[in-house]
Amino acid sequence: MSETILSLKNLSASFGGITALSDVSIEVKKNSVVGLIGPNGAGKTTLFNCISGLVKSDSGTFEFEGKVRPFPKPHELVDLGITRTLQGVGLFKELSVIQNVIIGADKNYKPNFMKEIFGLSGKVEAGLVQRAEEALAWVGGSAFIDKKPSDLSYPESKRVALARALVINPKLLLLDEPAAGLGQDEIDALAALIKQLKRRCSILIVEHHVDFVREISDEVSVLNFGKLIASGHYDEVKRNPAVIEAYLGHSDNSGENSKLGA
Ligand SMILES: Nc1ncnc2c1ncn2[C@@H]1O[C@H](COP(=O)(O)OP(=O)(O)O)[C@@H](O)[C@H]1O
Ligand SMILES: [Mg+2]
Repeated sequence: MSETILSLKNLSASFGGITALSDVSIEVKKNSVVGLIGPNGAGKTTLFNCISGLVKSDSGTFEFEGKVRPFPKPHELVDLGITRTLQGVGLFKELSVIQNVIIGADKNYKPNFMKEIFGLSGKVEAGLVQRAEEALAWVGGSAFIDKKPSDLSYPESKRVALARALVINPKLLLLDEPAAGLGQDEIDALAALIKQLKRRCSILIVEHHVDFVREISDEVSVLNFGKLIASGHYDEVKRNPAVIEAYLGHSDNSGENSKLGA
């Protein structure tokens, strides 16, 4: 029996009158990849925001490594071993690439953390620099170390954002649309990297590129209008009538339905 690292039960969240998540339960097993898919506005990012304390859930339970605990506050994530990448990139322009990676180890994730960790001596803990260099190496970004975010292409910045999430050696990695805006070669490289990473951690991933999701995910969960409509192996889920209906019903998701795969 594989162990569960994250179990969310009956999670609900709303913004004013809008229900973004309704009674959603999701489980992530250790060293597995769970793909979270669903049309735009389905609640995928909100689910990440609930796990990472950016959105307060209305109800639900949060169990991590077998312990039920309150949903984490953002500053508790590093100690728990949970990190995420943002939808988009979100690097700090004023920091170098290596500093942007190091900041992933900061509980408060603020640029002025750099002043704190570099301190008066201007030195940062050697172990942390080494971990940041290793994280950049994993993502194939060693050549960017001394560059600024403005020197990088979009795919290169996404690699750096991923390195920032890896710098703490997370137990659980949340990736929000990591393949968005990437070309096929970059997507293939990312898929290979994710397969390696899951030997070290568990991964919950939101992604629209369904071929990519199918390739990397052990299981997928499908959200639609804030509700979990299916979960299981990709090939089972894609045949589920509710899933087909959800994708066909969203004409604004240009071609997503056709990408559900043959
Ligand atoms: N900060 C927010 N304030 C108000 N409404 C929000 C906020 N974030 C998300 N929503 C709403 O919650 C729903 C789910 O959004 P989101 O989680 O971003 O969906 P997805 O990531 O699946 O595209 C949408 O109706 C969206 O408009
Ligand atoms: Mg989103």
